[in-house]
Amino acid sequence: MKISIIGTGYVGLVSASCFAKLGHQVICVDIDKEKVDKINKSISPIYEEGLDKLFTTHKDKIKATDDYSYAIKQSDVTFICVGTPSKKDGSIDLSFVKESAKEIGKQLKQKDRWHLVVMKSTVVPGTTNDFVLPLLEEFSLKKAGEGFGLAMNPEFLKEGLAVKDFLEPDRIIIGTYDKKSGYMLKKLYANISCPKIETSLSAAEMIKYASNAFLATKISFINEIGNMCKKLGIDTYDVAEGIGLDKRIGRAFLDSGIGWGGSCFPKDVDALIAWAKENNEKTRIIESTREINEQQPLKLVTILKKYIPKLNGKTIGILGLAFKPNTDDVRESRVIPIIDQLLKEGATIKAYDPKAMENFKKLYPNINYCSSASEALNSDAVLIITKWEEFTELDFKEKIVIDGRKIEEAKKAKIYEGVCW
Ligand SMILES: NC(=O)c1ccc[n+]([C@@H]2O[C@H](COP(=O)([O-])OP(=O)(O)OC[C@H]3O[C@@H](n4cnc5c(N)ncnc54)[C@H](O)[C@@H]3O)[C@@H](O)[C@H]2O)c1
Repeated sequence: MKISIIGTGYVGLVSASCFAKLGHQVICVDIDKEKVDKINKSISPIYEEGLDKLFTTHKDKIKATDDYSYAIKQSDVTFICVGTPSKKDGSIDLSFVKESAKEIGKQLKQKDRWHLVVMKSTVVPGTTNDFVLPLLEEFSLKKAGEGFGLAMNPEFLKEGLAVKDFLEPDRIIIGTYDKKSGYMLKKLYANISCPKIETSLSAAEMIKYASNAFLATKISFINEIGNMCKKLGIDTYDVAEGIGLDKRIGRAFLDSGIGWGGSCFPKDVDALIAWAKENNEKTRIIESTREINEQQPLKLVTILKKYIPKLNGKTIGILGLAFKPNTDDVRESRVIPIIDQLLKEGATIKAYDPKAMENFKKLYPNINYCSSASEALNSDAVLIITKWEEFTELDFKEKIVIDGRKIEEAKKAKIYEGVCW
């Protein structure tokens, strides 16, 4: 099939490369000319495990452009993968979705064949039907379900494991407006073997939010339990093993630490809370999940101050800036509140991350960046923020280490303390 993908960030680019691997021709559309140029030179604009290889292997099947007309004309199905960030009040910002839906609509007007439009960006329930559909109809002068098909196909990939998640998902959710769209999407995913669930458009949207809110809640829950365990001298990871073996609970997402970040959980949790507020519904559990996550990273600074009460003038090494390993994404990384607090108390920061320093420099140009993890270790104390594999090989022996992610090797440090163990 011929596919166009609007927005070539983490989701768009991974989808494009994986669809190409599945044998489809893909045209990527982005308003960012630099990204378009890079893709056409077969350079991946983002770091994601396995993506570079996939991208270069299938480069003949992937083209990029900023021209919607070319992309829609030359394809049968269009995936909308643009960003859906938060507004200041936490509610969803649909401005990128709006622009892309308008442009797609304009191009559909020129097309004499049926075309499928698929919403892949994460959007609050009701958006595809009540916001995207009217825009497509207004600008194409065609009716949904007749002149074009409409579907909502949320993406569940995890950064760091995105390629594997896309190609071997637990399930594919296909929310449809019309039957033909469901049939087309199933055909497109025919070579991926997993349960494929057909739902309404808004159920598909809600499945994505409920999923992320639940996973975030699982982490905040174990962190709350972890804070109690620490008081009792219990290793929370033993508790996680013990409860995780219960099939009703499961072990995944029970790694206690300094909380969740990234481009999805924080904004999706906020958007769901804001949506509920607008619709006069309460979100007590989800709001607590958020609150725990705000406080958890600062526990690392509290523990640090047991050993270095006055941080003013001290140098603190930071191991890891990415919100999790195997990605260069620093959005809402839990290191951000920690660095803010350390700077407020007058500490000097020496930070190191194997992949995320360039992105972090855009947020914090004035802290010190190290060329190796060992250089960051050479500080008055070290905080472990991200569980990068290479940190397991460091020599921590003479150091003061406060660990937010449980790296066993770090326990050999002169002084070692974990956040929940
Ligand atoms: N990143 C993830 O792990 C992940 C996982 C699942 C779902 N999602 C959801 O997928 C969506 C995309 O996320 P992302 O992380 O890939 O975003 P991103 O910010 O990395 O990329 C979005 C891209 O869209 C482009 N864009 C913006 N407006 C455009 C327009 N009008 N036309 C063409 N291109 C345009 C931007 O230039 C950018 O390259 C979001 O809704 C997100 O919540 C993300």
